[in-house]
Amino acid sequence: MLKTRIAVLVSGGGTNLQALIDAQKKGIINSGELVLVISDNPNAYALERAKNNGIDTFVVNKKECSSQADFEQRIIDSLEENRIDLIVLAGFMKILTANFTSRYPERIINIHPSLIPSFCGEGFYGLKVHEKALEYGVKVTGATTHFVNEIPDGGKIIMQKAVEILDGDTPEILQKRVMEQAEWIILPLSVEKVSKIIKESK
Ligand code: GAR
Repeated sequence: MLKTRIAVLVSGGGTNLQALIDAQKKGIINSGELVLVISDNPNAYALERAKNNGIDTFVVNKKECSSQADFEQRIIDSLEENRIDLIVLAGFMKILTANFTSRYPERIINIHPSLIPSFCGEGFYGLKVHEKALEYGVKVTGATTHFVNEIPDGGKIIMQKAVEILDGDTPEILQKRVMEQAEWIILPLSVEKVSKIIKESK
């Protein structure tokens, strides 16, 4: 059976992309294959991680696009050219509209660094999520993988993992713990789970 063809969309450092690459090497991801990394940021270190591992890369710089629709169309064209079955948003910091998401129902996975429905939705991304969790004073946070639909962080949940907040945590310390104890574990597992479903339906 043909493996599920996966594209990962990134904007920055790409530690979640690295977790996916490592999981593929270890066989944790086996039903799918990482074939393409798309970045909206030409300087994203995630692009180096892809190149170092022989994965094709493509950059769509939003500043060079005439509109949101043009930006999304360039991504769609690249996904189609590469016959992508599954899209993973791994630290992708641009909003995708319903025009994009409605094309891929239950075919886009996002990783979010909190336990949805806490600290999520528009304006909650990256370090800000952890700043808000600390500001609120919650004692437990975590990460969530979910399908992407037209509602920011509102699609069906795939997996969640809780992480303790400790005295003295800064947003940076907490971000690192959430990545190590939750994101880098549940993202590969979620990608394998969905890849398997797609592979069996191909
Ligand atoms: C990760 O913590 C990811 O969960 C978060 O950005 C970071 C990207 O790091 N994503 C969001 O906040 C999406 N709303 P990475 O580039 O090292 O994977």
